[in-house]
Amino acid sequence: MGRIISIANQKGGVGKTTTSINLAAALAHYGCHILLIDLDPQGNATMGSGVNKNEITLSMNDVLLARASLSDVIVKTECHYELLPGNADLTESEINLVQQERKEFRLSEQLTLLNKEYDYILIDCPPSLNMLTVNALVASDSVLIPLQCEYYALEGLTGLLATVRDITQMSNTRLVVEGLLRTMYDGRNCLTQQVSDQLLMHFKDLVYKTVIPRNVRLAEAPSHGLPILLYDKHSAGAAAYLAIAAEMLQKHKKVQPTKVTAEG
Ligand SMILES: Nc1ncnc2c1ncn2[C@@H]1O[C@H](COP(=O)(O)OP(=O)(O)OP(=O)(O)O)[C@@H](O)[C@H]1O
Ligand SMILES: [Mg+2]
Repeated sequence: MGRIISIANQKGGVGKTTTSINLAAALAHYGCHILLIDLDPQGNATMGSGVNKNEITLSMNDVLLARASLSDVIVKTECHYELLPGNADLTESEINLVQQERKEFRLSEQLTLLNKEYDYILIDCPPSLNMLTVNALVASDSVLIPLQCEYYALEGLTGLLATVRDITQMSNTRLVVEGLLRTMYDGRNCLTQQVSDQLLMHFKDLVYKTVIPRNVRLAEAPSHGLPILLYDKHSAGAAAYLAIAAEMLQKHKKVQPTKVTAEG
């Protein structure tokens, strides 16, 4: 199995879903075989991948409650990656799993049964440290944390890092922090600069060099059910997600740097 990466931050609206969809598409652009898992009852990663969350017959909820296997639920998308869709039904798992045995291992156990190879499996988490997010972290090799560089950005980070530490000690020793990704970045804003400097000072190499700028095309793309690379490949948002994918691939030595270009 390839590398499993949770995209998580319990703070809402920081760019988790935007990053999940566009990183999936950008890694696919570089030739990787990608599976995107929507573990958020909001179903935004599903809709943003061009799959109607209200029309699916099976979702991640059925997987977590052991009513279906992952391969029953996987759908092909037009976005060059495969998707395990999620929708409001996931609230059933969120509530019911709490009383069950080995509740935090449900996703992890299902993933080990997956009979297909992917280079990366990305998991879009809900804005909460609930049982869905815990399932994602227990199943993952790493967690990628999108952060908006504003005053409260660091507040939630402490809680998330403590949860990661607990999971590393109790359930999943291989879990590491993949990195911190600055999203909706506006370099002209002093506060953005200050928070960004603070992040770099505290977390050093864990902070991705690539920043994702605030870009209206990124906000428009989901309403067309498309990743930015298919909606407007010449936008600043598309260039940024190609750059973060390239930075990640280089970090994992999956491709030679010369193969990584922002064009085409
Ligand atoms: N770089 C960006 N530039 C402009 N708009 C953005 C950018 N990234 C995200 N957005 C917009 O900001 C909003 C929140 O982004 P997104 O849904 O990705 O965050 P989230 O962390 O997944 O939210 P939630 O916590 O609700 O799941 C969305 O409307 C999205 O289109
Ligand atoms: Mg989201």
